[in-house]
Parts: sequence; structure tokens; C-alpha cells
Amino acid sequence: MGRGQLILIEGLDRSGKSTQSSILLNKLPDGKLIKFPDRSTKVGSIINEYLTNSDLKLSDQTAHLLFSANRWELADSIINDLNNGHFIVMDRYIYSGIAYSLAKLSISNDSGPEMASIDWLYSPDKGLPKPDLTIFLTLSLEELSNRKGWGEERYEKENFQKAVKNCFLKVLNADDDDSVQIIDVNNLNIEQVTAKIWEAIEQRNFNKQTENSIQTFA
Ligand code: ADP
Ligand code: TMP
Ligand code: MG
Repeated sequence: MGRGQLILIEGLDRSGKSTQSSILLNKLPDGKLIKFPDRSTKVGSIINEYLTNSDLKLSDQTAHLLFSANRWELADSIINDLNNGHFIVMDRYIYSGIAYSLAKLSISNDSGPEMASIDWLYSPDKGLPKPDLTIFLTLSLEELSNRKGWGEERYEKENFQKAVKNCFLKVLNADDDDSVQIIDVNNLNIEQVTAKIWEAIEQRNFNKQTENSIQTFA
């Protein structure tokens, strides 16, 4: 018997990830949505406090490891769901983890050498289930800044987002990893973005059960 597939939507804040994830969920058979950070778990509640309360001080290394721990909290259930035939749509994952942490270098230089090391940032996520397909939504910072919904959370600042964008492009490794696809959504409305995402999915049968084994980040 085959298994369901894991499809990840990544991108900057307000790039349309949550909008597209919920649309995609209804187009896939037996779909389940997973959003990282998952703020409903024990670790997730600390992350939520960190993101929403600027008085909460954590070292950058601590915050980084909490985001990874939050993914490990769900790893077994993700694998079980896939093996039970569910398709999983994921809204953010390890690429956000590395890109946002790496971008902190651009706003502070007192974090320690770990935060500058992609190897160090990547290592706690090694072993997590790897998405069958990762889609990164990219658009200009100018178009992003016109979108409503800019919140008050820790990372929702214009200059930081610019650094995050550069860091994403560094860590996605789209040229060498054919599970990663970058989709340019500049000047596209919601329906047009959905159509592009769906084309990428259908082209390689990511909407069909597969016999391939679940890969892990190595
Ligand atoms: P994210 O989850 O990436 O932060 P959202 O899906 O919450 O982004 O979208 C952020 C805002 O941008 C919402 O107000 C949403 O309605 C709007 N939006 C999403 N996609 C588009 C699009 N293609 N064109 C214009 N506005 C969009
Ligand atoms: P959200 O706005 O999608 O809920 O994400 C919350 C913030 O957390 C967003 O600014 C990105 C950031 N983030 C990290 O810094 N590391 C991570 O591992 C993840 C998943 C998100
Ligand atoms: Mg969102």
C-alpha cells in the first residue's frame, strides 16, 4: 500500500503561505494541515511567548533549538499520518528555522559563532521527515509591504525581512535539490498563485499516493 505525501509551503511573512495552505488542503485527498511553529504544544507555548512578548529574553541559540524541538514534537505523528494515507500540507518548517536564525546576524553581532554557522543551525533538524515537495513563495519586498496583516510580532520588521529573504535563498538549495521549487508570485492574485502551485504538484504526481519511502533530512 502507498502513503500520502508531504507538501511544504515556505516563504516570508505575508507571502501567502497560510492562504495557499488552506486552499491546498481541500484539493488533496485526506489532507491534514500542520503549521509551524505549532503554538498549541508545551514547547509551542514558550515560542508563542517569545514571539509576542519582547520582554521575554532568550539567547538566540535557545530560541533556535526551541523551534526545532517543536518540530520534533510532531515528527512521529507526521510519519504515522503519511503511512496511514493522509496528505500533509505544512505551513513553514526547517527552512524558516534556519533562515530566520541566520538573518539575526544582520541585526546583531553579539550572538556567538553558532548563529553564523548553517551546519550548526541545521544539525538539530537532521532526522526529521523531509517534505516530498517544498514550494517557496517569493515576491518583492515592495509588494510585500503593501499587503495588510503586518503584525506586532518579533520578526515582523521591514529590514529584518530583507535579510530573511536573502537567507532563505541561501539555505533552500533549490539548484541541487529537486524537491525544492521556487515560485515567483509577484503580481499574481490568490487564484493565480493556487494555479501555479497546483501545476507543480500535478506535474510530478504529488497529489497521488506514492510507494516511495519517507525521506529524512540527512
Ligand atoms: P502568510 O501566511 O505567508 O504570512 P497570508 O496567507 O496570511 O500570508 O497572507 C497575508 C495577507 O496577504 C492576507 O491579507 C492575504 O489575504 C493577502 N494575500 C495572500 N495572497 C495574496 C495574493 N496573491 N495577492 C494579494 N494579497 C494576498
Ligand atoms: P508565523 O507568523 O508563520 O506563525 O511564524 C511565526 C514566526 O516564527 C515567523 O516570524 C517566522 C518565525 N520562525 C522562526 O523563527 N523559526 C522557525 O523555525 C519557524 C517555523 C518560524
Ligand atoms: Mg501564515
